[in-house]
Amino acid sequence: MENRSQWGTRLGFLLAAMGSAIGLGNIWRFPYTAYENGGGAFFLPYLFALLTAGIPLLILEYTIGHKFRGSAPRSYRKISKGMEWIGWWQVVVSFVISTYYPVIIAWAIMYAYFSLGQQWGGDATGFFVGDYLQLGDPGSFGAMVPSVLLPLIAVWVVAFFFLGRGVKKGIEVANKIFIPTLAVIFLIIVIRAVTLDGAMQGLDAFFKPNWSAIADGKVWVAAYGQIFFSLSIAFAIMITYASYLPKKSDITNNAFITGFANSSFELLAGIGVFAALGFMAVQSGQDVSDVATGGVGLAFMVFPEIISQMPGAGFFGFLFFASLVLAGLSSLISISETYIAGIQEKFNVSRGKAVLFGGGLAAILSLAFATQNGLNLLDTVDHFINNYGVALAGLFEVVAIAWFAKSLKSFQNHANSVSDIPLGAWWRVCLGIITPAVLGWMMLQNLKTEVTEAYEGYPIDFLFNYGWVVAIGAMFAGALLSLKKWPDQAAETRANES
Ligand code: PHE
Repeated sequence: MENRSQWGTRLGFLLAAMGSAIGLGNIWRFPYTAYENGGGAFFLPYLFALLTAGIPLLILEYTIGHKFRGSAPRSYRKISKGMEWIGWWQVVVSFVISTYYPVIIAWAIMYAYFSLGQQWGGDATGFFVGDYLQLGDPGSFGAMVPSVLLPLIAVWVVAFFFLGRGVKKGIEVANKIFIPTLAVIFLIIVIRAVTLDGAMQGLDAFFKPNWSAIADGKVWVAAYGQIFFSLSIAFAIMITYASYLPKKSDITNNAFITGFANSSFELLAGIGVFAALGFMAVQSGQDVSDVATGGVGLAFMVFPEIISQMPGAGFFGFLFFASLVLAGLSSLISISETYIAGIQEKFNVSRGKAVLFGGGLAAILSLAFATQNGLNLLDTVDHFINNYGVALAGLFEVVAIAWFAKSLKSFQNHANSVSDIPLGAWWRVCLGIITPAVLGWMMLQNLKTEVTEAYEGYPIDFLFNYGWVVAIGAMFAGALLSLKKWPDQAAETRANES
């Protein structure tokens, strides 16, 4: 018997994987992305992306974790020594995300509280950027904002608590509490939303298919981008989580369950969000297209206004922000686990030390996002790390595995040896051809936009320092980490032989 941590139950693993996948991306990213990219017609590229890239990659990452039973860097190293740095790169990308993601959760905690008395008054946008965030110019950090700092500390305390207790007693327990609670809360919100006046206008706008969108390459890029982000693939997360699976665990079926659960939640969020936007449009005599938006603007500027106009405002506002908190916490735990596992193995330290050191460093860095420049900084880091961290590292991952190491066939056999649903040649075609082609094209498109227009019109030096330096720095930091020797090369050889 090896002493690697394991999930207690299959459901525990599934809930943790869903907990990672279901995050802010489902709630505030999917609805608007779908709306903007063809509405009802978006489901075609979206489903295509789910089936040709999302689920196949999820199967790949589950297989890698299950087969090699190590953190992402260690597992990649077992595929080929030269791949270890891609693992660290993904871990560093996750680390960077874990420095700003908790800040959004912190805002949501405060907003759950603000909802009770609709403290934003008549001007939700002004309240958010002015009264609450005290947003300054991009470039100057300004002072710490206590009403961000305090809930941020609370977020870290919760994350440290569950991460410190380990895989089964901590992460699994957290997800067993958070995810069912989230599902119940979310259902209540969606039922409320679709029964509001104007809900149908919102749903019409959301589902109305614009078939000509399908001919636009950008729409396909958006679909793949959404699937990647939403399923937490190429973040090192799913490899890490799958490395805690017992030997006798199904892989493909688990991947299909995770993928479809995540997409169902996304669809539900789309319905809830647009029903609420329809309500708001009708209340204010506007068109749905005037109020539709996504991201931070949707959650912290538009939703507060909707909440104020709703019957039962305080209660539903509280539930909405509570759902962001729960969805966010389970995702935060999953990204943090990537570097905790990596540090533990590479530096041969206890879990407790890895949590303290890795999480501690992330917590300290997260303070930068609790300053008056927090929102600008967060927006920039997020944009660059997603496009040139997650998506690019994902491209390197599939190319290295499919083209250089040529391991797809052996992974297919491995997955088939334990799974209900057998993988066929289609799986290798998806990963060896379709996914690299789409990701490669996506990268070129993104780079083209990046050089022709400054992201969000931010100053060039600001974008350089906090966008490019961070994204490219993650790649270099990954390479550096891979240079360090593993503490116990002998154990690695032993593990290789098993
Ligand atoms: N899948 C998550 C979401 O949809 C993405 C994510 C996971 C982001 C983990 C950060 C950390 O929000």
